[in-house]
Amino acid sequence: MSVIAFILLVLIAVAMVFVAIRLRKIERRLKGESSKNRVARRVAARKAKKDGMEITDLDLRHTENCKLLPNREMLLNMMPKDAVVAEVGSAFGDFSNEILQRCAPKQLHLVDSWASERYQIGLKTIKKNLADEISADRLHIHQGLSTEVLPTFEGGFFDWVYIDTNHSYETTLEELLICDSKVSETGRIAGHDFCTGNVIDAVPYGVVEAVTKFCKDRNWQFEYLTVESHGHFSFCLRRLG
Ligand SMILES: C[S@@+](CC[C@H](N)C(=O)[O-])C[C@H]1O[C@@H](n2cnc3c(N)ncnc32)[C@H](O)[C@@H]1O
Repeated sequence: MSVIAFILLVLIAVAMVFVAIRLRKIERRLKGESSKNRVARRVAARKAKKDGMEITDLDLRHTENCKLLPNREMLLNMMPKDAVVAEVGSAFGDFSNEILQRCAPKQLHLVDSWASERYQIGLKTIKKNLADEISADRLHIHQGLSTEVLPTFEGGFFDWVYIDTNHSYETTLEELLICDSKVSETGRIAGHDFCTGNVIDAVPYGVVEAVTKFCKDRNWQFEYLTVESHGHFSFCLRRLG
């Protein structure tokens, strides 16, 4: 390609980007949507999401036996060892590896859809990094939606589970309700992101609302809560006696 043709191509590309930006601005003006309106619309959508979640007031019996821990690694140190465990939402396997190292589970089941662009590569990464655990039949992979995969396990199958998927109110509540019958009588349900949301990306979570509703409706209590300074806490629940 000649130098002139190359320069022409670059100029055309720049002009196309410029036109696209102008068209987007015109489109917004035609829609009458200023940036102020856009922000207001997004705030209203986030508020509507929060307003759609049921608020539950817990009783003292749900919290009085709870111990605060500095972080979720310490939580793993407290969890039963040589157990049958599920991590629901495993991404790239970083926390799965922590579970393997700290808890030496008899079986670790990873449940994840690995569907989004962000997490797709996670499955490949896990298969590569944890190949020994897979061939030793300790690590089991279940690709699919949590609410479709978890019901396929028999009742009381797990000693404990750790939930860390999309953190929405609806999904978290459904996962908790399914796990209620899938963990043993003395089993635990733990999970990540017991907080109101992601303040960097402005994404509201429903984990607090789902967990508190679940505790009250299904008679579970807090056993541990972590208090990391980044504010993305983990919880661990057990049945009320
Ligand atoms: C925050 S990441 C998990 C991080 C991981 N637990 C860790 O600490 O390293 C969330 C994962 O949940 C998965 N996920 C999101 N929604 C899901 C759903 N409804 N069912 C199954 N997996 C889901 C995503 O594919 C992603 O891998």
